[in-house]
Amino acid sequence: MTRSVRLCHVDELQERCARGFDPQQSGRDALFLVRLDGELHGWLDRCPHEGDTPLPYRRHGYLNRDGTRIVCFAHGGQFDIATGQGLAGPCLGLALTRVALHVGSAGEVLADLDPGAAGRP
Ligand code: FES
Repeated sequence: MTRSVRLCHVDELQERCARGFDPQQSGRDALFLVRLDGELHGWLDRCPHEGDTPLPYRRHGYLNRDGTRIVCFAHGGQFDIATGQGLAGPCLGLALTRVALHVGSAGEVLADLDPGAAGRP
């Protein structure tokens, strides 16, 4: 069953910045948001190269230096921020899993979570 969870306010995320969230308080971020060209994109923090591997080398460290691509720091896989498609490295031809987002009337960013998909064991 899908449920909506508040992540942050829409103004809290700067352009070409990423932020991880642990909405189920598992002790590890399960998803992250990235703002690009004013749009927010939500992705599960799971690299498609190797199962459940988290992408960042440190908390919130999902992007390359100039903030143009999502990077998995395990083996250097790179992804398009807007589409989640693998662009380079071992993730070429693979894709991140999108998290559906909504912005509420007060500017709150809500994620639609399927506990089976966004949760951590
Ligand atoms: S686990 Fe992400 S590139 Fe290998």
